[in-house]
Amino acid sequence: MELALDIRNLTKTYADGTAALRGVSLQVPKGDFYALLGPNGAGKTTLIGIVTGLVNKTGGSLRIDGVDFDAYPERARRRVGVVPQNLNVDFFGRAIDIVVNQGGYYGIPRSIALKRADELLKAVGLADKRTAQARQLSGGMQRRLMIARALIHEPDLLFLDEPTAGVDIEMRRGMWDYLKTLTARGVTILLTTHYLEEAEQLAKHVAIINKGAIVANGTMEDILARYDESQRERDGYRGSRLEEVFLQLTREPEKPS
Ligand SMILES: Nc1ncnc2c1ncn2[C@@H]1O[C@H](COP(=O)(O)OP(=O)(O)OP(=O)(O)O)[C@@H](O)[C@H]1O
Ligand SMILES: [Mg+2]
Repeated sequence: MELALDIRNLTKTYADGTAALRGVSLQVPKGDFYALLGPNGAGKTTLIGIVTGLVNKTGGSLRIDGVDFDAYPERARRRVGVVPQNLNVDFFGRAIDIVVNQGGYYGIPRSIALKRADELLKAVGLADKRTAQARQLSGGMQRRLMIARALIHEPDLLFLDEPTAGVDIEMRRGMWDYLKTLTARGVTILLTTHYLEEAEQLAKHVAIINKGAIVANGTMEDILARYDESQRERDGYRGSRLEEVFLQLTREPEKPS
């Protein structure tokens, strides 16, 4: 099986001593749709930061499309696109320029980038906002602009860090459809989301991370099969099966009083 992403024993301790990743291993097959789920502070954005070159790892190794990240960082990174959790965008820049300029970082000739950018803006439903400034877009539109920007260099592996936070229901479904067309074309996607029904709709594989360690990993069916009926009504709410499994694996144990 060819792997788009092969992470082995990845660790990250930030300068202030926070151990954000405590030995994470993850193998993502080519063309897969992988959901990385976990509570706030679990280490999801840290993991994505390392793979996209924004955060330096403390230990472990990673390969992207078989390319060793330490040996060939530029080559490895070129295969990756990212939609960051925290929108990092020139809010006064125009939508089309934001996408085209990103192509510049990857050395894509401007004429080609312009053509691609127009196609991408159309694909994410922003054709009519082509010349609007980013600050003039709604929050959900800004997220979609980030998806277009992430795809300008035609990456093989796309990281989406909560891409649908604040996106309305209809737009979200439109984004789901679009993401499915990407995987159908062979793009590998790793997604984080707190909307578990979204993960359930899209993902073939799921990894659940808690406090810097993976606590469950498998196909969506494997994970759902861990559903334990007896725990269901523990606190009066009942969610989807995935929600219940997630909570069983990640919630704080009750402290004895
Ligand atoms: N630059 C930093 N310096 C120090 N600690 C950090 C830094 N960035 C993140 N952390 C810490 O690392 C841990 C993991 O954070 P991370 O952002 O990776 O979590 P996350 O899973 O993405 O959470 P969320 O669902 O809230 O986005 C947290 O304890 C966080 O406080
Ligand atoms: Mg995060």
